[in-house]
Amino acid sequence: MINKDQLLETLKPLIDPQYKKSITDLNLVRDIMIKEDSVSLTVITTTEDEAYKNQAEAAIQLSLKPLGITQVHIRFRSITDYERNQLNEVLQPAEATQDQPAPSLKPILGEDSPVKFIAVASGKGGVGKSTVTVNLAVALGRQGKKVGIVDADIYGFSIPDMMGIEDQPKLVDNRILPVEKHGVKVISMGFFVQDNAPVVWRGPMLGKMLRNFFHEVDWGDVDYVLLDLPPGTGDIALDVHQMIPQSKEIIVTTPHATAAFVAARAGAMAIQTNHEILGIVENMSYYECKACGSKDYIFGKGGGAKLAEDLHSELLAQVPLGAPDNHISEIDYSPSVYKAETKSGQIYLDLAASVISKLEN
Ligand SMILES: Nc1ncnc2c1ncn2[C@@H]1O[C@H](COP(=O)(O)OP(=O)(O)OP(=O)(O)O)[C@@H](O)[C@H]1O
Ligand SMILES: [Mg+2]
Repeated sequence: MINKDQLLETLKPLIDPQYKKSITDLNLVRDIMIKEDSVSLTVITTTEDEAYKNQAEAAIQLSLKPLGITQVHIRFRSITDYERNQLNEVLQPAEATQDQPAPSLKPILGEDSPVKFIAVASGKGGVGKSTVTVNLAVALGRQGKKVGIVDADIYGFSIPDMMGIEDQPKLVDNRILPVEKHGVKVISMGFFVQDNAPVVWRGPMLGKMLRNFFHEVDWGDVDYVLLDLPPGTGDIALDVHQMIPQSKEIIVTTPHATAAFVAARAGAMAIQTNHEILGIVENMSYYECKACGSKDYIFGKGGGAKLAEDLHSELLAQVPLGAPDNHISEIDYSPSVYKAETKSGQIYLDLAASVISKLEN
């Protein structure tokens, strides 16, 4: 059973939105009662923002889970004028604090960890990063590799839904087991957010959550871990780059010239942070007429090739438009996974083969 100090230490990364300091340092966590696997506590809030309460609740639950705490009862109480005055005597509400740089992941997975990390990035949203992540992961699995996915899109998590995952991660020996589907192990913020509540966390908390995905998750034996990055070149993408210096990168774009132009920024970030770009995946490249087989390049042509040229990399795959023809009645239904025998499924198998030959030869 954990004690009060361990509990407070665990909650340290949670930041009060007004004072921009740890809620435990500010002594805003009170009335702690610990009873085997259940904890009850009061969080004193300095804001009436409901979103903060939701995120604090999810964060506390996720932080305590690895310690074997499965039931968390949190009461929120607004700060009293007296308490606020006391706080203000020692400190002023700050505008911002410097986010701590995320420590390198190396110690977690070991300096000589054989796991190959591939981050899937894009310049802008909606180009198909998550679709590529999921299908490349499944295709690597179909080639006999042991594969995991970290849904690093903390705010915009989508992997569980795309893979049709309905299970929750299990807790065994205080470690979280990822959920397995189509032979791929998955961990996502989506598993820890109730009722699709918005996730509004500050940088340090996000870093902590991401680190928990590596620290506290029992990945077992994996050859490849794919990271679905949030779109663009924001803090989380940078965090992930810093956290996993050894990760390689795949950049996803659509064939349109402007998409490729924006994607070049994600490429620039990879280069600046010393991450090797394995190559480009051009998604939604063309529409192939089912009846006549002719290809229609509705979103333009050449974006992927141009991007590959600009980044001195190569175009690894061109995936046509078309949603997987899966039906909800199927066993193992996934809305976004192409079957191996379909044209797109084959393209992903070829992509997986290229990735394997690049990383293993
Ligand atoms: N080749 C394709 N053909 C048809 N639809 C596609 C294709 N690739 C992706 N989609 C659809 O396009 C939408 C966006 O794809 P996806 O979620 O993979 O993009 P994303 O880059 O991860 O987006 P975000 O930036 O929001 O995370 C989804 O609805 C997905 O099902
Ligand atoms: Mg996505």
